[in-house]
Amino acid sequence: MDETELLPLEWTNHLLDWYDVNQRELPWRNTGDPYKIWVSEIMSQQTRIEAMKPYFDNWMMRFPTMQDLADASEEEVVHAWQGLGYYSRARNLRLGVQEVVEQYGGHVPRNRKAMESLKGVGAYTAGAILSMAFNQREAAVDGNVLRVYARLYHIEDDILSTKGRKRITYLVEQTLPYDRPGEFNQALMDFGSAICIPQNPRCHECPLSAVCIAYARGDAPSLPIRIKKTKVITISMMVGLLKWGDYYLLHKRPNTGLLRSMWEFPSVEEPASFIEGASHLENQVKKFGCTVVLENECIQELTHLFSHRKWIMRAYRGIITFEGTLESLQAQLPADWQLLKRSEFADYVWAGPHGKLTTLC
Ligand code: ADE
Repeated sequence: MDETELLPLEWTNHLLDWYDVNQRELPWRNTGDPYKIWVSEIMSQQTRIEAMKPYFDNWMMRFPTMQDLADASEEEVVHAWQGLGYYSRARNLRLGVQEVVEQYGGHVPRNRKAMESLKGVGAYTAGAILSMAFNQREAAVDGNVLRVYARLYHIEDDILSTKGRKRITYLVEQTLPYDRPGEFNQALMDFGSAICIPQNPRCHECPLSAVCIAYARGDAPSLPIRIKKTKVITISMMVGLLKWGDYYLLHKRPNTGLLRSMWEFPSVEEPASFIEGASHLENQVKKFGCTVVLENECIQELTHLFSHRKWIMRAYRGIITFEGTLESLQAQLPADWQLLKRSEFADYVWAGPHGKLTTLC
């Protein structure tokens, strides 16, 4: 028997009925505008829908059309993304939109193969745009959808494995309604974030509990199964908020790797002790003809989680001494270092959690 037949297909209508009453109001929803939907989908991969709304509105003011985004510099685009994290998403979004402007005359392609060939567009985003903007019967399988189907159909495969994802994608493709596929995909997402939530699912309010196999077996809270493989490496870091008069000394990260080309406070990874970290920072400023005295009290500890890294940052204040003028000090600094006043910080793209430390300045 095809697994699709385990549940009567009417559940899809019940879900759409639920959506008709409970759908969230979102600025890109029901617009049929592929550009807005594209931006919103990439942003929503970074943060909760509610948290991303201000970023979305700001983005649309700065880059109202695909042409505006295609014409913008990478720097401007990354600046508008600031705070959302994982900046390659913003860079790829700009590149993908440039491809649409240059190769498709500004019209988002209407088939999966062409969509997935665009920079930064994977199977999920392609399905989301095709179904929501063009009402095509295409699956958009995100974490919500994996969870909802794993429970409804009692799938015990690891949803992070290729096998589990493929099995669920097949079920979605088979069960997608013909008349409202775009709304159905969004209904799954809203339902997954309001009712069929990861912990303590709200089965007593659920319009699908009568058909849900996991509910019938008492397994809803323990599904889906997720087996994490990525190992997160923890790095402790000493960060210096080093000040010369009104100016802070800042460093631009290299143009490859994590948080590339973004500005940070001088830092030392994995110092064996405060003394060792401080001497690294001192050696750093010595190269510019300066000395620095670091206060030994940590003013903030901050933990930041990336996909493969965890930074534990400890911030210290330091006072730089340099006998000379601003111009002569600036002349000592290589291109990837600079002195900035607090009032100039907003014009720069900060390396993720370093941006949070600016509140201490
Ligand atoms: N999560 C990601 N995209 C979404 C959308 N279009 N509606 C609701 N939740 C979402």
